[in-house]
Amino acid sequence: MKQKINDHLNDIQDFRTDSSEQIEAFRIKYLGSKGILKQLFEAFKEVEPSLKKEIGQSLNHLRNSATDKINELKGSLEQKQSDKKVYGDLSRPGESVQLGARHPISIVKNQIIEVFSRIGFNVSEGPEIEDDWHNFTALNLPEYHPARDMQDTFFIEKDPDILLRTHTSSVQVRYMENHKPPIRTISPGRVFRNEDISARAHCIFHQVEGLYIDTDVSFADLKQTLLYFTKEMFGKSKIRLRPSYFPFTEPSAEVDIYWGLETEIDYKITKGTGWLEIMGCGMVDPNVLKNANIDPEIYTGYAFGMGIERIAMLLYQIPDIRMFYENDVRFLEQFKSVV
Ligand code: PHE
Repeated sequence: MKQKINDHLNDIQDFRTDSSEQIEAFRIKYLGSKGILKQLFEAFKEVEPSLKKEIGQSLNHLRNSATDKINELKGSLEQKQSDKKVYGDLSRPGESVQLGARHPISIVKNQIIEVFSRIGFNVSEGPEIEDDWHNFTALNLPEYHPARDMQDTFFIEKDPDILLRTHTSSVQVRYMENHKPPIRTISPGRVFRNEDISARAHCIFHQVEGLYIDTDVSFADLKQTLLYFTKEMFGKSKIRLRPSYFPFTEPSAEVDIYWGLETEIDYKITKGTGWLEIMGCGMVDPNVLKNANIDPEIYTGYAFGMGIERIAMLLYQIPDIRMFYENDVRFLEQFKSVV
């Protein structure tokens, strides 16, 4: 009898299956009303009294082993079935992962940074919430200066004025305050102007401004840098500088690039002239250098600033500036292939 019990124990231990029918057959075999255990307990009645204790314990152990085995097999079968519900068919080919795309503003911003970093410009950033000094006064725009109206401002607090920066020139002031020339930096960032929203203008947009200060920096240096930029960025090699006015530069100019008149779109975006205005620039006004504790007798510099949206609209033929901020996936998806 002992030998039989041991054989059954081994049989139970070795039993493996993941079919519920086989588990049920196993249960009937051992624990059913005509099962092995029933028969063994029947035979147990005939066992000699001196062996009863030992054999009784073995029989109980056998019954517990069979019950445990059945529970264990049922448990793992259920687990497998619920895994299947979660993962489905594990041998099925994978679903393709939806890749996101970089926002066109980021793409163009990175391109601009890349072009200027090749000629030694570093990147500087500053706060979007500014004080009056860094956004206006230090840039040669004292209180009541009429040119303050050129940039309709969102004020956060009055006296002292705290505002949303209207241009990234504020970053240049901060940079000059904290660094000694030579300075070669570009400042990309978000700017805010209290303007009506239309297809061509928005109250939030992005700029990149450049600043170069050293001894003997001339207007010719500025022109050459701008020419390099337009060649690299747009593949166009004709620019013109029109006299303009900015309080922080003197002389100041507006930069046009010759876009050409090859297609109907060229006619449309250049209004039939072939020329496109892309940025403002000029030689840093000596007052601005003084305000940042840079000696204008020793140093000169140039600065320029452009809107990133405007350049992105040109490069990708985007007709409406509002598309940048709507987060419409159908629009954003189109930039997947651009890194
Ligand atoms: N800050 C000017 C603007 O926002 C752009 C500019 C920058 C012009 C630097 C000249 C020099 O329009």
